[in-house]
Amino acid sequence: MTSTLVFNIGQLVTNDPQHDGTKLGLIEDAALLIEDGVVAWAGLNSQAPTHHIKHRFDARGRAVIPGFVDSHTHMIFAGDRSQEFRARMLGESYGAGGIAHTVEKTRAATTEQLQSNAQALFIEAYASGTTTIECKSGYGLSVDDEQRSLEIARSFTQETTFLGAHVVPVEYKKNPKDYVDLVTGPMLEAVAPFSKWIDVFCDKGAFSADDARTILKAGIAKGLLPRIHANQLQEGAGVKIGVEMDAASVDHVSHLSEKDIEALSRSKTVATLLPGAEFSTRSPYPDVRPLLEASITVALASDCNPGSSYTTNLPFIIAIAVREMHFSPEQALWSATMGGAKALRRDDIGHLFEGARADFSILNADSYIHLAYRPGVNLIEQVWRDGLQIK
Ligand code: NIG
Ligand code: FE
Repeated sequence: MTSTLVFNIGQLVTNDPQHDGTKLGLIEDAALLIEDGVVAWAGLNSQAPTHHIKHRFDARGRAVIPGFVDSHTHMIFAGDRSQEFRARMLGESYGAGGIAHTVEKTRAATTEQLQSNAQALFIEAYASGTTTIECKSGYGLSVDDEQRSLEIARSFTQETTFLGAHVVPVEYKKNPKDYVDLVTGPMLEAVAPFSKWIDVFCDKGAFSADDARTILKAGIAKGLLPRIHANQLQEGAGVKIGVEMDAASVDHVSHLSEKDIEALSRSKTVATLLPGAEFSTRSPYPDVRPLLEASITVALASDCNPGSSYTTNLPFIIAIAVREMHFSPEQALWSATMGGAKALRRDDIGHLFEGARADFSILNADSYIHLAYRPGVNLIEQVWRDGLQIK
């Protein structure tokens, strides 16, 4: 057995309320014992075990937080849409139209290019403190290209999502129903071995409520678990469908009706907010307060994609959430860690309970508040995943 004691932690965020009665479960002057990649004990530095410790690691009074769980990304793609971003910043509005450009580039790319693009993004995410990443397809939109995207995604993470229903590709624009048949038939068949989740972009310019239901049901029948892009661009039926199908998460949810909030509050479905998309499309940020007042579980994720949110950086997302969306610094950190884990229905990550995966970051700061207080500053000094230092 390998055992490592990380000691002299100035502030440890465990997300285990038993430590201090708050959601973040803070321990000041703490230590963390890791055995075989798993948290074996968390407590006061002065009470840390001293026997049979193989390695000892001095955190030098810094804050330690659970690894971020990024529960929503689109990292398998080729091409660049910086010109589209520039045009938006000069006043153009965002629609889902640019997705077609990325589809064209993704189809034309070699597997090695897609693999190395994705690898660069995964490494970038790990370096900013993310230790679990969900990754969607959705820029292939043909049987072979979706299968290829999911095979690549699966080589990086178990949290893979089939998003064949991202938009209707150009060659099916005249007969979109045939595309729904393709997604729910041969495409689903080809990707199922590499996919854990199924997702649909249910919004203006993408898929209708009826199509979304049909597609999610087909995925569920194949053993995939549902999640949905809902109410990003306007109010619609996406949230209702997500709740109806017991989706693990409804994502974006920037336009919610009272009924949506009510439905979510009576469900287990997480609301995942993606402020990188509002930032990058210059759209109004949603206010988290009505969701929290209704006791809805809220996650924060990056939505990393080349069109509407080209960032892997969760500290940046946390800073926006605090400044623009009325998250407290505590709630924002919880949403980017435990919230993400709940959005993936995982109980082994997103926290540092005994038995959790030893995924955490050491900050170049003595409090987690600095994540929002010092925006744009790289505070992620070290990253540990499964008990091993990866940065
Ligand atoms: O989550 N909303 C749909 N899909 C992506 C955007 C994709 C793109 O513009 O390339 C999103 O924001
Ligand atoms: Fe997305």
